[in-house]
Amino acid sequence: MFKYYILIPSLTLVITIPIIYFFFPPSIFPQRQIPISLPDELDDLSLFHKAIAADSTFLKKTTHNKHPSNKFRLGSTTLRRPKIAFLFLTNSDLHFQLLWNKFFNSSDPHLYNIYIHADPSVRITPPVGVFADRFIHSKRTQRSSPTLISATRRLLAHALLDDPDNAYFGLVSQHCIPLHSFNYFYSFLLDTQKLSRKMEFPSYIEILNESPSLLDRYNARGENVMEPEVSFEKFKVGSQFFVITRKHSLMVIKDSKLWRKFKKPCLKIESCYPEEHYFPTLLSMEDPDGCTRYTLTRVNWTDSVDGHPHTYHPPEVSPELIYKLRKSNSTNSMSSYMFARKFSPDCLEPLMEMADSIIFKD
Ligand SMILES: *[C@@H]1O[C@H](CO)[C@@H](O)[C@H](O)[C@H]1NC(C)=O
Ligand SMILES: *[C@@H]1O[C@H](CO)[C@@H](O)[C@H](O)[C@H]1NC(C)=O
Ligand SMILES: *[C@@H]1O[C@H](CO)[C@@H](O)[C@H](O)[C@H]1NC(C)=O
Repeated sequence: MFKYYILIPSLTLVITIPIIYFFFPPSIFPQRQIPISLPDELDDLSLFHKAIAADSTFLKKTTHNKHPSNKFRLGSTTLRRPKIAFLFLTNSDLHFQLLWNKFFNSSDPHLYNIYIHADPSVRITPPVGVFADRFIHSKRTQRSSPTLISATRRLLAHALLDDPDNAYFGLVSQHCIPLHSFNYFYSFLLDTQKLSRKMEFPSYIEILNESPSLLDRYNARGENVMEPEVSFEKFKVGSQFFVITRKHSLMVIKDSKLWRKFKKPCLKIESCYPEEHYFPTLLSMEDPDGCTRYTLTRVNWTDSVDGHPHTYHPPEVSPELIYKLRKSNSTNSMSSYMFARKFSPDCLEPLMEMADSIIFKD
């Protein structure tokens, strides 16, 4: 005869596991990381190859030009009217699209391009104005996983391929706001004096050698996993948000050596922020002198919680805050921060109220 009582303990187990998981998900069961599948990887590689090939074709065409004197070099491409590519990386609505619309609307539309990578598993309200139809082919993203590196590389490749005039590539998120007008930012990046003197243009990317958790983050994929390609001395940290040149964007999508290491899933999720290491490590290995080592995006790490910076809420938003956020530390030669994060979505209204009189006044 079948013994029903055997079923009871196992049924209890089956019922309680989801309940335990519901109440204590990250502490008992590690968060499951989305793996980067081979088809996704091949899809990206084919995009990168297209972008690299298109760039060299463009370079060949322009070097045959008989009158190069009215042109200037920026990265590997010779350009007439350099543009800035704004890369929006998001997994939710673009809360500040009205503010950004104002930012872009004050500029010549031939001086910028917008590209949006949005996690396809999230339903996003179709954006309006300059953001309409600016989505690139996107894949899922997840915090504490290399998918954030992939998404950024995908944005860079799309922007490289889309327009040979894209000269600078700035990464921002839905929580970022501009701190100055478009024209102020454009003249800062593409200073006409520098252009006429054919000076090299730097990448604005934070590269730090030290941070209290650096060793934990280095070993997040397991001990000795990064060797020999990335020794601990070469492992850097910096903000995910950068503004980099075309030359450096190409370097990033041409890389396979470091990506092979950084794409490995982490064993320790709490030390896993690969997007804060891959870009500074790669560029400091390949062209340390071409990078400023600081970012143009201000963030407030005071009292950070669970790896998140301070999030500004409406009562904090004031002209004084904008002035404070612009101000950079005098140790580097940067004159001002250009962007800031993180802002809660309901900051839109107070920010719009002072957009013309304060934020975009210059
Ligand atoms: C830009 O500003 C003009 C004039 O104020 C307005 O007519 C237009 O709709 C704006 N465009 C966007 C995309 O916001
Ligand atoms: C940074 O955040 C802290 C609270 O976490 C706040 O007291 C401080 O005013 C902020 N600093 C700036 C410059 O906004
Ligand atoms: C500026 O530098 C001081 C001293 O090094 C540091 O405590 C502070 O956090 C820095 N502020 C910013 C915004 O980086």
